[in-house]
Formats: sequence, C-alpha cells, structure tokens
Amino acid sequence: MKISAAVLEEFAAPLNVTELELAEPKSGEVLVRLEACGVCHTDLYTASGVDPSGYAPTVLGHEGAGVVERVGEGVVSLAPGDHVVTLFSPQCKECVHCVSPKTNLCLAIREQQNLGYLPDGTTRLARDGEPIRHFMGTSTFAEYTVMPEIALAHISDDAPSDRACLFACGLSTGLGAAMYTARVEPGSTCVVFGAGMVGLGAVAGCRLQGAERIICVDLSEQRLELARGQGATDAWIGGPDTVERVLEETRGFGADYTFEATGLVQVMRQAVEAARMGWGLCTVAGVAGKGETLDIIPRYLITGRRVCGSSFGGVKGRDQVPQLVQRYLDGEIDVDPFISHRITLEEVNDGFELMERQDGIRSVITFG
Ligand SMILES: NC(=O)c1ccc[n+]([C@@H]2O[C@H](COP(=O)([O-])OP(=O)(O)OC[C@H]3O[C@@H](n4cnc5c(N)ncnc54)[C@H](O)[C@@H]3O)[C@@H](O)[C@H]2O)c1
Ligand SMILES: [Zn+2]
Ligand SMILES: [Zn+2]
Repeated sequence: MKISAAVLEEFAAPLNVTELELAEPKSGEVLVRLEACGVCHTDLYTASGVDPSGYAPTVLGHEGAGVVERVGEGVVSLAPGDHVVTLFSPQCKECVHCVSPKTNLCLAIREQQNLGYLPDGTTRLARDGEPIRHFMGTSTFAEYTVMPEIALAHISDDAPSDRACLFACGLSTGLGAAMYTARVEPGSTCVVFGAGMVGLGAVAGCRLQGAERIICVDLSEQRLELARGQGATDAWIGGPDTVERVLEETRGFGADYTFEATGLVQVMRQAVEAARMGWGLCTVAGVAGKGETLDIIPRYLITGRRVCGSSFGGVKGRDQVPQLVQRYLDGEIDVDPFISHRITLEEVNDGFELMERQDGIRSVITFG
C-alpha cells in the first residue's frame, strides 16, 4: 500500500514527508494504522547525525499509538480493531531476560532492530523498489507501520491515542523509573532532577508509589509548575548548591531515592551525591552524550548509596504499558498537561524546532 511518511533522507536536514510503499505484514507481524505519535528527543538526536549508530534513509518516530488494521500469519494476541501502543523495547515473554523479573531488556529482536530491519532481516518500507530501513523497530512518523506482534502493547479501547502515545516512550520511562526500577517505598523522600517528559513522569511515579516528599529540580519555572501539578511537594531551580540543599533538608542524610532525567553527566553526579547514605538509590534515566563519563567518588558507594540505570523505566511493555494506560483512564495520571502542541505529519519539522527551543513538553502528531 501507499503511505505518507516522514523520511530522514540525510543527517542534519529537515525530514521529507513523502509517499512510500509499505508491504503487507509477514508471519508474526501486524499492520497498524497510526492515530497519534509524540515527537521525542531520540528522533531529533538521530536526525541530527550525532548518534553514531544512526542510519539514513529511514522513517523516524517511536512514540506511536493506533489501531490494528491487519495481522500476519500466526499472530494470536492481536486482531483488527485492537488499540495498541508501539514498543521500541519489545517483550517476547520467552527470552532469558523476559522470564526474569529483574529486567525489561528483551533480547529477541535486538540485533535486527538496531540495524533497521524487522526480525527476518528485511524491511516492509520501500521507495521505487529500494528498501527503506525502519527506525527503533517502530517508524511511526507515518500513516501506517508494520511491526512485530511482540512490540505492540494492547491497550484499552477507551484510551484516546493522542494521550496513549506518550506511554510509548517518555512518560512510561519516567513512571517506570520510580515504579519498576527504583520501586519507591511509601513514605520516602525523592529528588527528581529534570522536569521534561521523563522527569515529570518520575514525579508522577513517586506520587503513585506513595512518596511523602517529592523534590523536583529544573532550570525552568514553567516546568517546575508542571511538576507541582504531577505531585512534587517542592520545586527548586537547580544549580551547583542543589546537593547541599538536599542534605540540609534531610538532616544531613540525603534522599531515599534520586532520579536523573536530564542526560547531563554533572547532574547525574549530583543525583548520586544527593542520595542518602546507608540505602539511597540513584536511578539514571538520562542519555549522556557519546564518550561522556560519570564521575563518582567511591566513598559515596562504600557508605551505602547505590546507582542503577533504567531503560524505558524497566517497563515490560506488553504487560505493563496497558496497566499504566489504565491508571491514566482511572484518573490517577494527569496526561493532558504534557501535550503542548498538536501538529500534522507535514509539520513534523516544526515539532523538532519546538523541542530545540524547549517550547512545551511534547508535540503530538495526529493523523487523518
Ligand atoms: N532511559 C530511557 O529509556 C530514556 C527514554 C527517553 C528519554 N531518555 C532520556 O531522558 C532524558 C530526559 O528526557 P526528556 O524528554 O525529559 O528531556 P528534556 O530535555 O525535555 O528535559 C530535560 C530537563 O532537564 C532540565 N535541566 C537541565 N539542566 C539541569 C540542571 N542542571 N538541573 C536540573 N535540571 C536541569 C532542563 O531544564 C529540562 O527541563 C534525556 O537524556 C533523554 O534522552 C531516556
Ligand atoms: Zn523517545
Ligand atoms: Zn524477550
């Protein structure tokens, strides 16, 4: 079929919204009609050419939500009409990582996905007979996409796609960092560094876990206001004295849980140092620049602080994204304030510009 899609033709150039051919889903694959897609930093990072593993041409986009149109042979868990969220982090439920409760890093299709192919090593996207590679296994800056069944989360029909799409990346990453990676305990004190989509999600996750005190640190007053709306009890402008301030406010001990959602290694260091002696856990969700390293004075570790990383919030996508979406439908997560701009696919480059200016939390593309 013919579809309209936003193609990264070459790095550091605007995306080209053009017509491509999309082949029918093969065995184990699903054709999804997209209804909405968020514009995330990772799309921009790849488009800029800074990501060393990036490739072009490809169709970007990974924060998608839509409806199943057709299924390939052998697909049993999804049927036409089902509402789905796309997962760049799949869940095969069979590999050694999927069967462990300790990680969400499914091993099933990683290699082919990283190279831009579907699991059988080919693409469904093409132009004039030339294959075009998929991006993050999702390629959701498009009217339709073909994805593996194991990379789609089946969500409630009641969830509007323009909200549900945020659960495909940033929001689940933040929520999950608090809920599944750190497993914040009720009554604890948390510090969240960064109030973008990921940090705001972490604030909401700490609240859902019953944290007593949630300090959010950012450089923008406007974003801190959003953090208050998500449950932050304290909102601070960040700076070199942030660690000292956390210690002062916690009788010299530090916070039970800290979260880093800026991608800046000097802030990661602050998040480690602001964690409580004895048992403080620092969860790093931000993605640092290539080649950057995180400095930790070993004494911080000897005295009982722990550091862990979190990819997609530790969320096992097919099981847990539907649960998170349900909590939104139940009124426990306030998603609307995250949608700052609604744009069309043709306006996708405007979405990048808004993000570069830090104008709003998320621009959401709606189709049709
Ligand atoms: N782990 C994952 O699976 C995953 C998924 C999505 C995004 N990410 C990463 O998470 C990070 C955050 O993503 P986002 O979409 O929320 O980004 P964002 O750019 O919207 O938010 C980052 C925030 O950090 C704030 N900040 C900058 N310097 C600061 C400082 N010194 N102290 C406190 N706050 C400071 C900025 O004001 C901004 O609000 C990025 O690095 C992104 O690549 C990781
Ligand atoms: Zn993303
Ligand atoms: Zn797996």
